[in-house]
Amino acid sequence: GFGFSWQFNNGPIGNDDEQIGLGRQTIIRFSFVVAENTPKGLAAQKFAQLVKEKTNDTIKVELFPNGTLYNEPDEVGALQKGSIQMIAPSFSNISEVVPEWMVMDLPFIFQNDEDVAKAFQGKIGNILMRQLEPKGIVGLGFWANSFQQMTSNRGTLAHPEDFRDLKFRILPSKIIESQFRQLNAKTVPIPFNQVYRSMESGQVDGGENSISNIYSKKLYQVQKYLTISNHAYLGYGVLVNKVFWDKLSAEQQKTINEAMQEATVWANQNAIEINRKQWNELQRIGQMNVHILSKEERNEWQQALKPVYEEAQSYISKELMDAVYELRR
Ligand code: LMR
Repeated sequence: GFGFSWQFNNGPIGNDDEQIGLGRQTIIRFSFVVAENTPKGLAAQKFAQLVKEKTNDTIKVELFPNGTLYNEPDEVGALQKGSIQMIAPSFSNISEVVPEWMVMDLPFIFQNDEDVAKAFQGKIGNILMRQLEPKGIVGLGFWANSFQQMTSNRGTLAHPEDFRDLKFRILPSKIIESQFRQLNAKTVPIPFNQVYRSMESGQVDGGENSISNIYSKKLYQVQKYLTISNHAYLGYGVLVNKVFWDKLSAEQQKTINEAMQEATVWANQNAIEINRKQWNELQRIGQMNVHILSKEERNEWQQALKPVYEEAQSYISKELMDAVYELRR
């Protein structure tokens, strides 16, 4: 088993059929690895509140933050099996089941938050969402965290040479592996709840993450150097088990979709705000040496990382790569 206990869950327990009867409360158990006070944690709370209001409490979204139910490597499998009804993993974690989601890990794919919104709402988003259903998953939306920053313990990361021979914690994604390979760095995939320890113990020298994750998991205590690089993007697909979804009534599905849309608009704006606030907070704490990547340095990184795009063509369809290049026009 996964070692979780039912003590958190006061709702009806049993198979899905029992949970979706007339006059009974339908329970959606929603598991995620980050803390409550994060873009994803707050989005999940907003969604749960909206579902409660819109369904007069006939559907209840139960939240399980901090990976208390499932850790990163187990989450998607648990969703596919129906052990959990809802998750919101990072793009890289989804790419383990649908490799094309790796497209979102391409370095420098997005210039700004408008690009990200375009990808979520446009062709890129559509292509990614439609690939989930054959895997037993229904995608309800995209949630933002923010651009990712580089951290290390071994010195400032300003130029591509600065990465040589350092070891980085990564999410599982061939694109991310390739990114660090081009920089002559080593990588090891490590689940989110072990990242702090891996940095503290020196198992890894560095990592990449959003300000929100660096702040909320106190990675600033175990990483001396921070480069504001905005080189990659961290975001989430909000996913539901398809068997569970198909058993809901059309009315229930419609209401959940409405709640999701409303929560998403709020959440994706809030994500930008949270990262901004926590960036100020990190500077106030002042425990990391901060380097802000210059325009010239950004160019150097982009040049060094060009081969990642060539490699990406073997994992990502032409249709999807074309949609990426369209963003730039
Ligand atoms: C990470 O593992 O760094 C992120 O995927 C965690 C998260 O869900 O934001």
